Amino acid sequence: MKFIHLTDLHLVPAGEKLWGFDPVARLRLCLADVAKHHADAAFCVISGDLAERGEVASYQALQECLLDFKIPLHLMLGNHDDRRNFLSVFGGADANGFVQMHWQLQGQHFICLDTLKGGASSAGLLDEARRKWLKATLEKTAGAPTYIFMHHPPFAIHHALMDLIPLEDGEGFGDLLSGHNVRHIFFGHAHRTISGQWRGISFSALPSLSHQLPLVGGSVPTVYSDEPPMYSVVHLNGTQITVHSDAFMHRSKVDMAEDAERGNWS
Ligand SMILES: [Fe+2]
Repeated sequence: MKFIHLTDLHLVPAGEKLWGFDPVARLRLCLADVAKHHADAAFCVISGDLAERGEVASYQALQECLLDFKIPLHLMLGNHDDRRNFLSVFGGADANGFVQMHWQLQGQHFICLDTLKGGASSAGLLDEARRKWLKATLEKTAGAPTYIFMHHPPFAIHHALMDLIPLEDGEGFGDLLSGHNVRHIFFGHAHRTISGQWRGISFSALPSLSHQLPLVGGSVPTVYSDEPPMYSVVHLNGTQITVHSDAFMHRSKVDMAEDAERGNWS
């Protein structure tokens, strides 16, 4: 099975720029590249920070961009989003009013969490209602391989700024996963490519489609940096998970003859 992971679109209303970038144009380029090269993907998840300021006009711009996108899509919320404004455009709240979902495909379970805390905080929160939903959903997986998508990482990632605003009570969240067959956590929020393992569960994150966070603060004069945007292509194959991150806007030919180096790959 193959699927696509995108994150942190930070859309602003069509025609506006953010930190010098055009997030809507970048999203259109990204979706076109995914459609061209990965039309066979089973689904696509966008793991939050859909809109920079949570404006209705930004969600409408997203809706417009998605009109011709044929791959089944799951939209999630991040700390920059506004749940009420998102729902006014897309709908899809669960019984408690959150944007959480669970689906099953080929014997594997996929869970998207809503870690939007709201208010002035950029940290993540899974309150009692959301944790209760997760606990009940994990019970339904009955030991089958399970993959979790969430905007905020539930652990420190060794980044001076990001470690100020992870999911609150990440260890309590980890305790909820114990005893279930959670194979991997996909997250956003970090605006960086990250992979590793936490409590025996592998994880991955990828850059934003807009601005990035430099790994070392001060390595550029601004808080955010201009580094390649990427989307991830994930392959699940029995006991293996493989995550590629593709810098679709920085892919071009090199200085070599087009027929050079084509016959010696064995
Ligand atoms: Fe973000």
